[in-house]
Amino acid sequence: MMSQQSAVTSSSRHGWDAGQYLFFANERTQPALDLVARIESEAPARIVDLGCGPGNSTGLLLARWPQAAVTGIDNSPEMLAAAGRDHPDIMFAPADIATWSPVKRYELVFSNAALQWVGDHAAVVGRWLAAVAPGGALAVQMPRNHDFATHRLMRRVAAEGPWAARLIGARDPSPVKAPEFYYDRLAPLSRRFVLWETNYIQIMDGVGDIIRWLQGTGLRPFLARLDAQEQGNFLDRYAALLTEEFPPQVDGRILLPYPRLFFIAYRE
Ligand SMILES: C[S@@+](CC[C@H](N)C(=O)[O-])C[C@H]1O[C@@H](n2cnc3c(N)ncnc32)[C@H](O)[C@@H]1O
Repeated sequence: MMSQQSAVTSSSRHGWDAGQYLFFANERTQPALDLVARIESEAPARIVDLGCGPGNSTGLLLARWPQAAVTGIDNSPEMLAAAGRDHPDIMFAPADIATWSPVKRYELVFSNAALQWVGDHAAVVGRWLAAVAPGGALAVQMPRNHDFATHRLMRRVAAEGPWAARLIGARDPSPVKAPEFYYDRLAPLSRRFVLWETNYIQIMDGVGDIIRWLQGTGLRPFLARLDAQEQGNFLDRYAALLTEEFPPQVDGRILLPYPRLFFIAYRE
């Protein structure tokens, strides 16, 4: 297990770090696999992956529909570089998924683990559905863990430390809503609307693993505002609180609950 401080890379202070993110590649990609498996779409001609990250989810789409023209969209240069390197057969392009509104529609608009990073979900999911061609589908997955101990405790460390003033607003309150919210906005515009939630219970080797997992995502906005020394202090305090919260199992491992919301809207 690497030390918490050395797990903070310089690039994670400035933007997304594809290596850090893919350290748990299997665990992060499983929800995308589960979402792809549930999509009932024979042969979508054009597919877009919104918030494609390092292309792990985009690769799954091409594997299931090899005849489709698949495009990955992201606004992180680091992620797009990793995606282009690992998936040279897929097209990747920079764009802001919060305002994305394409000229030509897609048979499948897909987004795995990205919608939680943008606000105003009513407007955004409305635009995403409008980008779906007749007969096509919008398929989305996002974590719903903002009230869980992992996120509650990182907000507590942010609010209680000497860095409190600088960390105000580092991460906006979660824009993720209850399932009913997405149903009410999308079901009336859909031929069929499917939604479900799965709690992925991640088996972690210890508290250091939880931190490493979250350094690829949720901790990023806080650590980005701290210098290296402060990042270490922040993570030490966070580790102490996590240790109190997550008692070890008989083998010393820790179980980390990770609920995720899925929905698929099929258009007429
Ligand atoms: C947690 S990763 C998900 C990566 C991949 N889809 C997967 O299934 O693992 C979230 C991605 O969303 C991207 N992202 C966040 N906000 C964005 C925005 N406003 N516009 C475009 N991409 C965004 C990030 O750069 C990051 O690559």
